[in-house]
Amino acid sequence: MKKLLGLLVLGLAVWFMTELVPPQPNATPSTPVKWTSSQQCKECHQEVFAEWEDSWHAKSWIDEDVIVQSDNFSNKVCIDCHAPRGVFETGVGNRVLPRSSRRAEGVDCLACHLLPNGGVAGTINMPSAPCKPEAILDLSRVSFCAGCHDQHKTVTQWRATPMADTGPDCLDCHMPFRDGNPNRGRHHGMAGGHDMTLVRSAVTLEAEREGPDILVTVENIMGAHAFPTDERSRAADIFWRPAQEDAAVRGGWTHLHRIRDPYRMEVDIPSTLLHALASQDKTGVSPRRTLRFTPGGGPIEVALFYKLAPYYRDPNDGRVWKTEEVTDPLMDSSLVHRVVVP
Ligand code: HEC
Ligand code: HEC
Ligand code: HEC
Ligand code: HEC
Ligand code: HEC
Repeated sequence: MKKLLGLLVLGLAVWFMTELVPPQPNATPSTPVKWTSSQQCKECHQEVFAEWEDSWHAKSWIDEDVIVQSDNFSNKVCIDCHAPRGVFETGVGNRVLPRSSRRAEGVDCLACHLLPNGGVAGTINMPSAPCKPEAILDLSRVSFCAGCHDQHKTVTQWRATPMADTGPDCLDCHMPFRDGNPNRGRHHGMAGGHDMTLVRSAVTLEAEREGPDILVTVENIMGAHAFPTDERSRAADIFWRPAQEDAAVRGGWTHLHRIRDPYRMEVDIPSTLLHALASQDKTGVSPRRTLRFTPGGGPIEVALFYKLAPYYRDPNDGRVWKTEEVTDPLMDSSLVHRVVVP
């Protein structure tokens, strides 16, 4: 009991010291640090740094797909968001501008946190912290992501859904609190299309018989933006085949439907993105899409696959295949959902 009381007093004393005693003003005002690299933040913010280093923001300049598609950034417009200057420099919500130095750091700490006055944007004022973060409400707003993420209309898509009024917003889903605890801050891993657990949570796939036909229904249940949200690079394909006893058997698939927004030069291909509820799409879209086909007798299986780059290519000569030519989607995509119809 005494021990417990002792601990309590000790705890209170520590709390008193940290919470109630005002921070001591520095005897000599420290010279403000000039932030020139995200490596400087690493020293004190190791957890955030490790999360970011693992994220695709950190890889936006060294991402092989981006290098290939931008012709090693000789297409200069690609530098804008893949090695951007600070969001607060160009103004929250405005399209970001390219930077000329330390491009390898990609979308880094400074791109998101550096203020035009040389300070650091945070959620609360902390004059006593070495980096003196300032409370900037815009850092937590959807428009903050928009300067880069409306390239592919993700933010516009979200704004057209009921979530714009009720939430959740980008941060709730892509920057959740660590361990679900608001006091632990937000996870900087920013999971997206490379995270199959997240991708699986976005859609459902159902299939049932109706007479000789099979009805397949795919639905965007994530509700925040289109599936897939990326305008160009991503594709999702539905295939079917006679049911296999072992789902791991490769091949034998027939293509049924592709969900994708084409590249700008692919003028003959319509957009088939699966929009979120109430999206203001020209085609008057529903988050649910039903497909019908007639496979003949016997049990069949239907599956949805997700692709990070849109084309299937011949492994021998690199020729782009038509989707109808593909019989083994696993050669270059991941299984999202699979349904067997007896
Ligand atoms: C206005 C900002 C912006 C510009 C300009 C931009 N991108 Fe991107 N890019 C993004 C964002 C944001 C993503 C993240 C994926 C998404 O939008 O769903 C992305 C993702 C990509 C991806 C997918 C990367 C992956 O991890 O698979 C490729 C490839 C890509 N961009 C290529 C390019 C090329 C090539 C250019 C120049 C023609 C370009 N980008 C210009 C913002 C931009
Ligand atoms: C010398 C150590 C040190 C360096 C270097 C440093 N910080 Fe900090 N920072 C701290 C401390 C200590 C705190 C307050 C405690 C905490 O939240 O971790 C803090 C707090 C913050 C906050 C939080 C405010 C909030 O809303 O909770 C942000 C944002 C931040 N730092 C960003 C950065 C960025 C970006 C860099 C690099 C440009 C950086 N810091 C460099 C020590 C440092
Ligand atoms: C793509 C933008 C982006 C990048 C890159 C980024 N941050 Fe953040 N950071 C944010 C946002 C947004 C918040 C939180 C806003 C909120 O909590 O409402 C935040 C919050 C923080 C906080 C407050 C505590 C926490 O963990 O939530 C710290 C500290 C921080 N960032 C440091 C860093 C450091 C260090 C780096 C580089 C390693 C970095 N950030 C990279 C956008 C970014
Ligand atoms: C300064 C530009 C910029 C800002 C601001 C920014 N992003 Fe990004 N983001 C990118 C780029 C570029 C990529 C693509 C990187 C790549 O894969 O090459 C990306 C990728 C992503 C991805 C996809 C990861 C994956 O698996 O492919 C998610 C999710 C994401 N960002 C969420 C956010 C959120 C949420 C915010 C707002 C807090 C935000 N981003 C702010 C530029 C930005
Ligand atoms: C209700 C949760 C939720 C909200 C809110 C949400 N997202 Fe997503 N986001 C997802 C899921 C699930 C996926 C994976 C499926 C997909 O790519 O469509 C995803 C994927 C992404 C990707 C990855 C695209 C790619 O091709 O790799 C980006 C970028 C992204 N979201 C940005 C945003 C931005 C910006 C906002 C705010 C305007 C936002 N998201 C709001 C759940 C959410």
